[in-house]
Amino acid sequence: MRTQNLHDDFVEQVRSSSDILSVISSYVHLKKRGNRYWGCCPFHNEKTPSFSVVPQQGFFYCFGCHAGGNLFKFISLIENISYYEAIKLQAQRLNIPIPTTKKSADELKQEQIKDSLFKIHEMAGSFFHNCLTRTSLGEAGRIYFSSRQINSDIITKFKLGFAPNLWDKLFTSFTKRGITKELLAKAGLITIKDSGKAYDRFRNRIIIPIMNEHGQICGFGGRIINPNDSPKYLNSPETLIFNKRHLLFGLDHAQKSIKEHNFSIVVEGYMDAIALHSHNITNAVASLGTAFTAQQCRKILRFSPNIYFCYDSDNAGQAATMRALAIASSSGANVKVITIPDGKDPDEFLRHHDSKDFYALIDKALPLMEYQLQYVLKSTDRNTLEGKLLAVNQLMPLLANITNTV
Ligand code: UTP
Ligand code: MN
Repeated sequence: MRTQNLHDDFVEQVRSSSDILSVISSYVHLKKRGNRYWGCCPFHNEKTPSFSVVPQQGFFYCFGCHAGGNLFKFISLIENISYYEAIKLQAQRLNIPIPTTKKSADELKQEQIKDSLFKIHEMAGSFFHNCLTRTSLGEAGRIYFSSRQINSDIITKFKLGFAPNLWDKLFTSFTKRGITKELLAKAGLITIKDSGKAYDRFRNRIIIPIMNEHGQICGFGGRIINPNDSPKYLNSPETLIFNKRHLLFGLDHAQKSIKEHNFSIVVEGYMDAIALHSHNITNAVASLGTAFTAQQCRKILRFSPNIYFCYDSDNAGQAATMRALAIASSSGANVKVITIPDGKDPDEFLRHHDSKDFYALIDKALPLMEYQLQYVLKSTDRNTLEGKLLAVNQLMPLLANITNTV
């Protein structure tokens, strides 16, 4: 097992201070029979218990799916984290200090850069937010948000903002405060022209800060307020702290609710996630405009194994749903698909309906296989021989999956 730089003594201390039975019992209902404790396996679907814990020997084993190992293995599987992180998590729970390991000069340098990027994003988040809520420069942003029925509670909750319609407002006020041009450029907040002149990246756009799951701002999405401008959304460039493939917009707010409801709702757009939260449906996250990735999937699976996708109802959205379903189901998620009958996306639906109506759509969500079958049948022309062959070709792997899971 790779425990990176953790010292053996430390790992042993965490292990011997842990009570495997009470840890596992906090996830699985267990009953004693013989020298084992039994329960329904959390790693596969079952109705009669084949999952067992032997506390004296410090291990668990499932006779159904053969998952097994020590306490750290259990935590890593159930929390969907690495073995190394499982040890650290358990140490934190027991208040055992994690020994600091010596870092290389390179690691230290990277950490410093990350720290300064987080700081500057935090500052920029406040700059945009204050501009929206406290200055006359934010008037256009306030009008835009109110036209989309986004109230001040939601503006505060998501720390929404506005980038003024000026060339270098952020640049000049940040350099006055001693922030270097280099750092601003590295964070993607300004672009530097060949002439050496700096311009703000975000201008005359409403600003949606993108936080990681710890609530730290690591990037921004900026939406036009004038329909003739483009692109509709301008995002921060990739940086050391902003990797779109790993982030899910809204996860910082949604994680608790995903655990409580035991499912997550994944939507395509920032505004869809925000609309759901405004309607008190707080287990929703958005996948940042890229295809849904395996990394994003692993991230939400930590909070619940059940994912409901609710992408745009147009053709592009349906095709994106099919790709997301493939990713999510191969990561072991239980997936369902919510279909929007009225409007292009969840945000549009909620403009004319309330949360009860949305919950009704959740109740009607299609299971993975049914959605996939319907999609293939709908998207192939079965009146021609080519169409029939295409449909059969696409259906075969889906049907093979059904027999596998049965
Ligand atoms: P959509 O075009 O479906 O936007 O893009 P939307 O969420 O309905 O936005 P509103 O309601 O018009 O404001 C979905 C997501 O794709 C990304 C964004 O993350 C957006 O939320 N996107 C879209 C971009 O990154 N750039 C674009 O130009 C457009
Ligand atoms: Mn929309």
